[in-house]
Formats: sequence, structure tokens, C-alpha cells
Amino acid sequence: MSVFRIAIDGPSGAGKSTVAKAAAKKLGFVVVDTGAMYRSVGLYIYRKGLQPDDADAVVPQLENINIDLGFSEEGQRIYLNGEDVSEKIRQNEISAYASKVSAIPAVRAFLLEMQRKLAAEHSVVMDGRDIGTVVLPDAELKIFQTASVRERAKRRYLELTEKGQTVDLETIRKEIEERDYNDSHRAAAPCIPADDAVIIDNSNISIEENVAMIAALYEMRR
Ligand code: DC
Repeated sequence: MSVFRIAIDGPSGAGKSTVAKAAAKKLGFVVVDTGAMYRSVGLYIYRKGLQPDDADAVVPQLENINIDLGFSEEGQRIYLNGEDVSEKIRQNEISAYASKVSAIPAVRAFLLEMQRKLAAEHSVVMDGRDIGTVVLPDAELKIFQTASVRERAKRRYLELTEKGQTVDLETIRKEIEERDYNDSHRAAAPCIPADDAVIIDNSNISIEENVAMIAALYEMRR
């Protein structure tokens, strides 16, 4: 049985994880949130008290990091050296750590292998920044999903306040802009649409409409 691979890339707060999860459920695919993998490396480095942009300090730690994914009806769980860190990696401080470690080529190579292996074994909806350009350049369907900075800041603000975190909207907006800049200007696998990606701006459409568009594209290409 051959696999069908859907790559969803785009900047932070563009609803990739939510849409990927819903699309995977609808199509019966496995969802792989690659941002969670970078976040797990970021969390490990944070706990070690190391600087996330210090490649000389980060790279030797990779051999101590073991990441496993678990799949359930509710989506993906992620384990860092056996510990379920699915919630801990969502803390706001970890976002900056994830962004910084993700600019280190050895960190990317470390996770790339895992990501390709998953996509070879299962039909996947894989979301990230470089899935259509680097990880799965011959994916059957590539989506580049985005929304305005204002809309994305609003969404992140609501997500964090709902979890009880105290945050400031303006600070979130600045952090998003900064992370966009880092993610799209880094030398290693910058966040840019693949030439053959379908671009979806979801500033003014619902999650359901976004998922329906992806399902329709899948039907056309299967
Ligand atoms: O999607 P996210 O916010 O959970 O991603 C966390 C960080 O990881 C983000 O700053 C960009 C980085 N990332 C990446 O470089 N490549 C991916 N495929 C996924 C995420």
C-alpha cells in the first residue's frame, strides 16, 4: 500500500497544528507536528541551562536526547527521554528556545531522519516550516498556510490566556514578528513556500473551511 503525504508549512500561529490534526482525523492519516520535536529539543536545552543559540553547547547534547511520538485519537503525544512533555513544550519561554535551536543545522539533521522515517511508514499530515521544501520535497500535496500577524497574535494570546498564562498582546505580537524573521531568514531550511505549494491565508476563514479545502485538494490528487 502506498502512502500519501500532506505537508503543511507556514509561520507560527497560522493554525497549522489544529488544521493538521483535524485533517488527519478526517482522512485517517497520522499527524506529525514537527514543531513539537524542535520544542522538545528546546525544552531539554532550557532545563540544562544552556544557551539555545550556542551550537557548540547544543550539538553534543543531541546524543542524550531521545524523542518518541505516540499517536491517539486526540492527536500526537510527545515523549522526551520517556517523559510525556506534550504540555510542557507549549510554555511561552520554550517557543524562543525552539526557534533558536532550530537554526542549528545539526539539530535539523537529527530530526529530519525521524520525520522521513515516519512519512515512509504512514500516510501523514506533517506540519512544520520546511516539510514541503526539505523534509518531503516530493509530498503528494503541499500547503503553505498563513494569516496576518495581527490575527496570529490574537490567536496565540487567546490560547495562552485560556491555559492560565499571563501574557501581553503587544509582547506576543513582537515575539511572533521576531520568530517569523528568525524562521524565514535563517540559512538552514528557512520557512518559505515550496514552488508547488498551495497557499492558504486563513485570516478570514474558519478552521472547518481550511480543513475542507485540504480534504478537497486531497480528493483531487489521490
Ligand atoms: O510550530 P511551532 O511554533 O511549534 O515550532 C516551534 C519552532 O520550531 C519554530 O520557531 C520553528 C521551528 N520549526 C522548524 O524550524 N522547522 C519545523 N519543521 C518545525 C518547527
